[in-house]
Amino acid sequence: MKKHDVQTIITALGGRAQLQALLSVGASAVSNYLARDELPQRAVGPVCAALRARGFTVDPTCLEIIGQRVPAAASVPLDNPHMAGNRQIANGATGSALLDTHRSSGTGQARVLLIVGGGIAAYKALGVARRLQDHDIAVTGVMTRSASEFVTPLSLAALTGQKAYTDLFSLTDEAEMGHIQLARQTDLVLVVPATANLMARTANGLADDLATTILLATTAPVMMAPAMNQAMWGHPATQENHAVLVARGIDMIGPDDGGMACGEEGTGRLSPTDGIVDAVVAKLAGRHKALAGHHAIVTSGPTIEPIDSVRFIANRSSGKQGHAIAAALAARGAKVTLVSGPVSLPHPPHVTHVAVESAREMMDACMAALPADIAICAAAVADWHVAGDTSGKLKKDHAGPPRIELVENPDILASLSAHKKRPQLVIGFAAESENLQANAAAKRARKGCDWILANAVTRADGSSVFDSDSNGALLLAGNSCEDWPQMPKIALAERLADRIEAHFG
Ligand code: PMT
Repeated sequence: MKKHDVQTIITALGGRAQLQALLSVGASAVSNYLARDELPQRAVGPVCAALRARGFTVDPTCLEIIGQRVPAAASVPLDNPHMAGNRQIANGATGSALLDTHRSSGTGQARVLLIVGGGIAAYKALGVARRLQDHDIAVTGVMTRSASEFVTPLSLAALTGQKAYTDLFSLTDEAEMGHIQLARQTDLVLVVPATANLMARTANGLADDLATTILLATTAPVMMAPAMNQAMWGHPATQENHAVLVARGIDMIGPDDGGMACGEEGTGRLSPTDGIVDAVVAKLAGRHKALAGHHAIVTSGPTIEPIDSVRFIANRSSGKQGHAIAAALAARGAKVTLVSGPVSLPHPPHVTHVAVESAREMMDACMAALPADIAICAAAVADWHVAGDTSGKLKKDHAGPPRIELVENPDILASLSAHKKRPQLVIGFAAESENLQANAAAKRARKGCDWILANAVTRADGSSVFDSDSNGALLLAGNSCEDWPQMPKIALAERLADRIEAHFG
């Protein structure tokens, strides 16, 4: 790729800070771009879009500014740290960018994922979708296969203004918006009508279509509005499933008593639209906001350290633990800056995501995010980077393998702990392969953090904590040591958030 005139681009964007915010990188990354006079490939789309929004005519292949500036009707909010999260919008909107828009719009607009079940009351879900939007709630529709026998996906899409999702194995949908992403990028999942079949499949943990997969994968609260024939509702199987779902924390709205479409009388009617909408609005209003007013910095994922322009040193961190913590804190109202190395996870809703690659970039981004009340370092930061200039590709020649000299990376956790703007509560992780408690205690003392969560790199069954969906840890806080058993990483994140809430409460 032709090199870029990085200084001209920075000037046109309005300064280095603007480029940093646009690409969610630290100051040192911008220095590197200037030194190399080249932007990374991933920067080309957003920079091109931002320059055009500022009235420049740009050659998209090399980002050369070829036209005079004209007065811009609208400028891209370059100082908005959410901008990087919306990179896809600048590049050309995708399905997931639609939800990103809601999430990052700064309007705080709540999002409901509406699952329409296959019953005669399915058509009433359309009214629920419309009324929710009257409350400024963004609705994304998902339909079971049998629901589309009663109402068409097109009707739901037309009403919500968004694609209605129907198929678990649609490659197009998977490319645009994976089912896990759908399940996560919402504030609440609402099922209308919850049929006997859908309740049974959910109670039994089945994931045999998009709707049940979302219900299994979501971390958002779930509400169900059951509707079915009165005999089906009264059947012990349905009653047991109902009890299981309630015990798992699913809120039930109805069903009501009265006449049914089949001509029978009894309990099983879908609650009125207003009752369903009021229950959802109340649930969303009561979202747990105990950490509102607190700013948390969370590091997550690996860092990658270049050896040359194509090779790097990295580790197996997936970001699952750090991202779950960021999500749990954001759901409790904290303002969260999630600084993460390269991961394939979507970033959670309502967080400011800063994408970094190296430890030094992660350090810069964390320092730039101060002041904060809470810092949680869950990232697996590389301890070393390769010394010297890493630009260009190392050539394989007859002199044998190259000698690679390593230099120690800055310690982000220790730097946050010792900073003059030190967050009130600094929490580290310790990934240990032996002497879990003793090594973690020594690490806590050395790095100066308040609490440390010690997790074993390899568990009793031989599996690694890296990239796994579960984790167990020792929490060392004050003089105490609590043993947290293996649990889903999401549950561990919630448990930590509970402890943080109690600390500030
Ligand atoms: O991402 P997952 O696949 O979900 O896996 C989660 C995890 C195993 C990565 C996570 O639970 C975890 O243990 N994170 C810390 C991993 C680690 O690098 O541990 P450490 O013992 O080497 O470092 C101790 C602490 O110092 C950590 O909080 C680390 O983020 C921090 N650190 C380390 C080096 C450095 N240069 N700067 C740092 O801030």
